[in-house]
Formats: sequence, structure tokens, C-alpha cells
Amino acid sequence: MNETILVLDFGSQYTQLIARRVREQGVYSEIRPFDTPLSEIRELSPRAIILSGSPACVWDSGSPRIDPQIVQLGIPVLAICYGLQLLVHIYGGKVEKSTMREYGPARIIIDDNSDLFHNIPNETDVWMSHGDRVLELPEGFSTIAHTPNSPVAAIKSNDGMIFGTQFHPEVVHTSRGKDILYNFLYKIAGCNGLWTAESFVETAIREIRETVGDGKVVCALSGGVDSTVTASLLKEAIGDNLYCVFVDTGLMRFNESKRVIDGYRDLEFNLIDVNAEERFLKKLKGVSDPEKKRKIIGQEFIEVFEEEAMKIKDVEYLAQGTLYPDVIESVSVKGPSSTIKSHHNVGGLPEKMNLKLIEPLKELFKDEVRETGSLMGIPSGLLNRHPFPGPGLAIRIIGKITKRRLNLLRLADHIFIEELMNAGLYEDIWQAFCVYLPVKTVGVMGDERTYENVIALRAVTSLDGMTAGWARIPATLLERISVRIINEVNGVNRVVYDISTKPPSTIEWE
Ligand code: XMP
Repeated sequence: MNETILVLDFGSQYTQLIARRVREQGVYSEIRPFDTPLSEIRELSPRAIILSGSPACVWDSGSPRIDPQIVQLGIPVLAICYGLQLLVHIYGGKVEKSTMREYGPARIIIDDNSDLFHNIPNETDVWMSHGDRVLELPEGFSTIAHTPNSPVAAIKSNDGMIFGTQFHPEVVHTSRGKDILYNFLYKIAGCNGLWTAESFVETAIREIRETVGDGKVVCALSGGVDSTVTASLLKEAIGDNLYCVFVDTGLMRFNESKRVIDGYRDLEFNLIDVNAEERFLKKLKGVSDPEKKRKIIGQEFIEVFEEEAMKIKDVEYLAQGTLYPDVIESVSVKGPSSTIKSHHNVGGLPEKMNLKLIEPLKELFKDEVRETGSLMGIPSGLLNRHPFPGPGLAIRIIGKITKRRLNLLRLADHIFIEELMNAGLYEDIWQAFCVYLPVKTVGVMGDERTYENVIALRAVTSLDGMTAGWARIPATLLERISVRIINEVNGVNRVVYDISTKPPSTIEWE
């Protein structure tokens, strides 16, 4: 049974959030650009359509528009913010360009609680973010909520199929947003909640078997969540016809490659592990420029991987842990990091090797990948690890990379992470690590003057890595980490804590 909710994206910063909120309620959702042709939408045959918000204004000449027939297909529609204004416009109502922006928290008063606002208190807090407002309702629509500032905060069509809200039900600041979405999905659109981790695993395994048959698949494992869950699904589907390659670049964290290899052996993966440390360090010798480091590491990785993959006789497929946010053809502007740093994962592998791609996670968000992994019995230590960049410690050593610097950084980083884990803070933090600074400062140890390196601690809170705040680690814990690093890591006499947010800083230092 098809129960897809189609989210049409007009460029709102919240579009992905809408899709995630829908899935959290057990209903599959897909994001498509606003100009998706009607024929494609008919083919998708969604159970309901959600129109996202947008930074644009319906009055602007270039503002995003849709084929009016899309909202006249007889499929339930929920139009949010800009979506609502567009809807009103399409159906012949009036939208007023307002001089007063309504932005932030607001309280709506509900005028009709029969469907979208079923079981919602008469007055409820919502999150508004709009400049224009509805002046005149189109024929066949009525107001179902208002605020002191907007006479029209939500509307519905007389046939109970089309709804619009001036506020954002998808953000947490709308206190009953989850219930409002629930009402739309279950009461109005008649969904049954078929999207679960169990159903995903079952379908993914069946589809992999259908696609691959007796063919052989190669997969690059990094120790991270995405590649591990990808490999687990494949292993379940095709057993030992899955060949996993783990490349130790020599740029991993303390004891990491051993831990990762042991973990994969426990999961009984058919594993080829390659120690390529010398190759990588040779290529990186004397290189300081961060982008050059990334390029060299990306290329070398592809070369090593290719060499290993070519040793597997008759391999036909390459599996990759691509996630849904990577494939959404989004209208929204991508975050600054995607253009400021070139992020090298294993992209670019398949063209050269003439392999067919398999991407079993390409419909999932990160939290769904973790849920899938946990269902498949992958240990939580592996699933809840902080993200680690493909170029590894190479971009956490400012300047040239040497074995001595790597070892020193590894030790300091190990202490930092160990202390965060002991304090029970590791999982509250999005990413934490040490950075090696190639500057020496004066210190004093015993009666001796020292002249040694600085280690910077970086720990951030974030939802998706696009924006980040610095983690408020208690001062006593920072003190213990500093004392331990200076005492236990030879060559460090100073530890500093990075208190920059992203933007304008980035999470990594290079
Ligand atoms: P920035 O430093 O851009 O990082 O704020 C955002 C997130 O991306 C990770 N990152 C990378 N990941 N290859 C990767 O696979 C890279 O070259 C790279 N650079 C940054 C970073 O660790 C953070 O999670």
C-alpha cells in the first residue's frame, strides 16, 4: 500500500524537518522541488501533499509557483506559511503584503477543532515566521484559527481536504505541532503508519536480493555508522558475496583501526583490511594546505580501494552509505560548509571502476540509520560515535603532518574523549576532538622552563553539523582534561578551549 507523503519544497529552511516529523509519526515522506511536473506527482500517487514555507513572497515576480492542478487532484493538502499564501492566491483569495513581520512565538485561538485541531487546546503556542498575511479567504474556505495579529492563522476548505497554517507545525516551538501533524496524517489523510525500521529493513533486504542476485558487491567500510549499517543490510541480504574493504590511512584516532577491525570481525563481515599508513604519509609529506590534504587523501583512498576491489574476481556492484539529505534535490540553499570545504568521502569511485551502485540508505535520515542499525544488532558504541571526517586527523593537525604530531594528537584526543565518556557527556555532544597547533609557547614544569605545543579542545552541539554552538563543558571537567593532557602527553604544555560558534567559524579547524 502506498502511503507516501509528498513534501513540495519552496526553499524553506524547515523543509527537511517537515519530512522528518512526518516520518517520526510512522509515515514515509519524500521531498521534491516545487516545480515537479504534475505527471510525476500523479505517478508517485502520494497519500497527501505538504507545501513547505519559503523565504520568498507570493508578490515577487520570480517567486516559486506550482501547477494549480496539483492542489486540485483530490489529494489532501497541508500548506504551511508561504504554502498557505500560495494556496490562497491560487484559489482566488487575497494576500496582503504586510509591513509588520510576525516572527517568533505567537498564540493562536482555535475557531474549529473538528479535524486539524482535534484535541488541541483552544489557545495554543505556535511558531510564526512570515511577512505577508491572508486578507481575504478564497471561496469555499473558512478560518479555523486566528491570532490577535492575523485574523487568519489557519484555514480549511469546505470539503475538509485542503488545510493551511500560517505557522510552522514542524518546529518544536509549536507546542502541539506533533499532534497537529498527526491529525493531518491520520485523521485527514487516513494514513496507517506503515513506515517503521522493521518494514524498512525487510524491504531493503528484499530489494538488494532482487537487484544483486548472485552478484558480488564491494563496500568501503570506514568505522562510521553509515557504512556499517549499509554493510549489515547487504550481509543480511547476500551473505559472503559482500566484500568489505577497510583502509587504515594512518590518520585514524587512538587504537581506532584495531577497534574497528575487531568490531567488524565480530559482525562476521568478509573483511579485507589494508594498512596504507606509509602510502598516505608519504603523499602528505610537507603538505600544509587543507584543501591539498583533502585532495591527496581522497585520491589515495580511491587508488588503494580500487587496487583491493580489483582483486575480487567478477565484482559487479559497489555499495555506498549515501543518505537521504545527500540526494534531495533541494531548493533550499545548502549550508556554507558544502562550498567552503570540499568534503571527500568515497564519492567518484564508481565511474572509474565501472561498477554499478547500490545505496540502500538513500531514503533515510541519519536518525533512521541509527534506528535501523540498532534493530540489526549493531553495538551502540558503533552507532552513537561522533562523526569523523574522511581525511581524519590530517585536518586536525594545522600545518604539516608528521608521525610525531599524529601520535601526540591521538593521545591528547583519547584523553579528551575518555573524560567526556566518564562524565556521561559524550552522547550529549555532537562532535568533540583535539586540534594540534604548530605553535610553541612558554610554560614552566617543576623549576624548568618549557617551550612546547598547544592543543585546542573543540566540542560542539549541533543537529546536523550545518550550524553549531560550543558545548558548555563544566569548568571542573575542562580543568581535569587540561591537567591530564599536559601531564600525560609529552610535548604539550598548554590546552585551550575553542568557544566559537558555526557560523562564522567551522567545526573543524581546517
Ligand atoms: P565543518 O568543519 O565544515 O564541518 O563545520 C562540518 C562537518 O563535516 C565534517 N567534515 C568533513 N567530513 N570530509 C568529511 O567526510 C571532510 O573533508 C570534512 N570536513 C569537515 C566535520 O567533521 C563536521 O562533522
